[in-house]
Amino acid sequence: MVVGKPIFTVEQIQQRVRELAEMISKDYEGKNLLAVGILRGAFMFLSDLVRAIKVPLTVDFVIAASYMKEATTGEVKVYYDVREDVNDKDVLLIEDIVDTGITLNHIRERMLQKRPRSLKICAFLDKKERRVVDVPLDYTGFEIPNEFVVGYGLDYDNRYRNLPYIAVFRKSV
Ligand code: PRP
Repeated sequence: MVVGKPIFTVEQIQQRVRELAEMISKDYEGKNLLAVGILRGAFMFLSDLVRAIKVPLTVDFVIAASYMKEATTGEVKVYYDVREDVNDKDVLLIEDIVDTGITLNHIRERMLQKRPRSLKICAFLDKKERRVVDVPLDYTGFEIPNEFVVGYGLDYDNRYRNLPYIAVFRKSV
């Protein structure tokens, strides 16, 4: 198993996070921002992003995982849902990567049922080629090709999440 060279370095990641935070800070001026991280993968991106956002906000989480990733009928299991009442909140869902879109679509629909004041999505990585379900992304860090990547919260078998950069991962050389 090989972790390749960084495709996004620490510096590139931090630069892009600052840019996203600037856009979000402008758009959420005077609003009631609730940042909702989709765990586990989004923990690192969320913690960097919220520290760079300059408007007041609250934070909550959803813990979810998808199964049968190769199938179009992927099933999403939610282990933990938001504790906040979202009715008066401008919710921003924060995701590390959108692949098939199944996880995000499921969480988005579930959140919409709770009737937040508004709902937007910020995803750090967008692997567009793999999309099965169309999900509207309002803020995107980087588009990436169809390669398996790890680091900055993203895992292979729950490992490599702690790498501060993003790298391509291959099971064999
Ligand atoms: C990963 C990632 C996204 C999802 C993207 O989570 O964090 O939530 O897969 O894939 P999709 O667009 O095909 O649904 P995973 O289910 O591996 O759980 P984790 O966050 O605990 O790593």
